[in-house]
Amino acid sequence: MARPSAQLRLGAFFNPTGHHVASWRHPQSQADAGINFKHYVEIAQTAERGKFDMIFLADNIGVREAHIEALSRSAQYIANFEPITLISALAAVTERIGLTCTASTSYNEPFHVARKFASLDHISGGRAGWNLVTSGQAVEARNFGRDHHFGHAERYQRANEFAEIVVALWDSWDDDAFPRDKESGRFFDPAKMHYLNHVGQHFKVKGPLNIPRPPQGRPVIVQAGTSDDGMDVAARFAEVIFSANLTMDTCQKYFKEVKTRAQDKFGRHPEHLKVMPGLSPYVGRTEEEAKEKYDYQNSLMHPIVAREILSTVLGGVDLTPYNFDGPLPDNLPMSNGSQSTFKYVTELAKKDKLTMRQIAQVVAGARAKLVMVGTPKQLADQMEQWYVEEAADGFNIMPPYLPGALNDFVELVIPELQRRGLFRTEYTGRTLREHLGLPRPSSRYAQRTNEAAE
Ligand SMILES: Cc1cc2nc3c(=O)[nH]c(=O)nc-3n(C[C@H](O)[C@H](O)[C@H](O)COP(=O)(O)O)c2cc1C
Repeated sequence: MARPSAQLRLGAFFNPTGHHVASWRHPQSQADAGINFKHYVEIAQTAERGKFDMIFLADNIGVREAHIEALSRSAQYIANFEPITLISALAAVTERIGLTCTASTSYNEPFHVARKFASLDHISGGRAGWNLVTSGQAVEARNFGRDHHFGHAERYQRANEFAEIVVALWDSWDDDAFPRDKESGRFFDPAKMHYLNHVGQHFKVKGPLNIPRPPQGRPVIVQAGTSDDGMDVAARFAEVIFSANLTMDTCQKYFKEVKTRAQDKFGRHPEHLKVMPGLSPYVGRTEEEAKEKYDYQNSLMHPIVAREILSTVLGGVDLTPYNFDGPLPDNLPMSNGSQSTFKYVTELAKKDKLTMRQIAQVVAGARAKLVMVGTPKQLADQMEQWYVEEAADGFNIMPPYLPGALNDFVELVIPELQRRGLFRTEYTGRTLREHLGLPRPSSRYAQRTNEAAE
């Protein structure tokens, strides 16, 4: 069945120098990008010129633990700005593009997160989005008074309660709660202020939030859960879902499953969840040029880094005993990490008879996210197919190096998508919700008042 046209959603997912682990070594990269605000202004404005729905910034709250020889050759989450601070500053130098970033439900209080994203929504005139993560690394726990991270199930229980509170706190004030009437001397209307008085298993929050209801009613919630518990949070709360599926077939299944779950279990409209797989594009005016860019970026990767990434992607398997220029061993233990990624990588290695070094280059480029290498037409063909065949509502574009790969995408692929009527040529809305075609939720208190009046 044909899907409505002109509805492809695009996020610009920025890692400081790009998503490729060796992007910081690219001759045109800004090696200090993580703390270079001018660089972020440039790429944010480029994404806005390309009419992207939103910018997205991920976050880890700590320097990961890895072999120091590999770690010291990588720039990922090691020397960069805190994302809410950065994206709030970007609000001042952009006008229309959505501004989404990560905050952890394991190492924040819900009040903090509700307040910061409500502030961002006011500062940006309704362009804020919160990427809800539970954090995944033990090292993060140790920065927040804990020796161990919460177990997977526990952290998703916390995440559910956390998100319930955040969403409720955003409704602390009715939309028209602040007359600020200088004549009468009434700043706010007491009938329009709501205490939350939440007492739950993990949190106790009285409320109200000390900032008025956000312009979007609620900032957009983004999530990327893949486990059963993670998908439940997505189906219940998320309006944008970043999937990490590497093939169209697995993404189609994910797309269907998460939307069906949202509808059947949580009574939500499936169109109100936008599934956006991560996509790392290498674009050239010819296929050869694109391939050259891909090969060149991969050639910058140090073998020690390549081996570490392959080991991480395979769930922490120790690869040091094996010859890196030989095949991936047959008898690797099934990983405790992502089983679908493990399967994809091991099958690809076998099918294409790749050495460990070659397979490491395939997965390290985008840290096991989807990579497309080709001409604008070839990329647009694939993106269109994923969209039409219901594997994606859009894509979270992960430029492998910056600013070059973003510039290529904006100059070459976006016009091709626009020519096909698959992407906007101008912003028609002001808020992130409007860009994404999501309704503005009414306050839970307004809903109750309306129900009582009927
Ligand atoms: C595109 C994308 C972006 C992500 N961003 C972050 C992030 O910024 N911080 C983080 O701790 N986890 C991040 N994650 C990890 C997810 O939140 C989630 O933990 C992961 O997909 C595994 O799913 P599960 O938690 O359901 O097992 C991201 C995942 C994807 C696919």
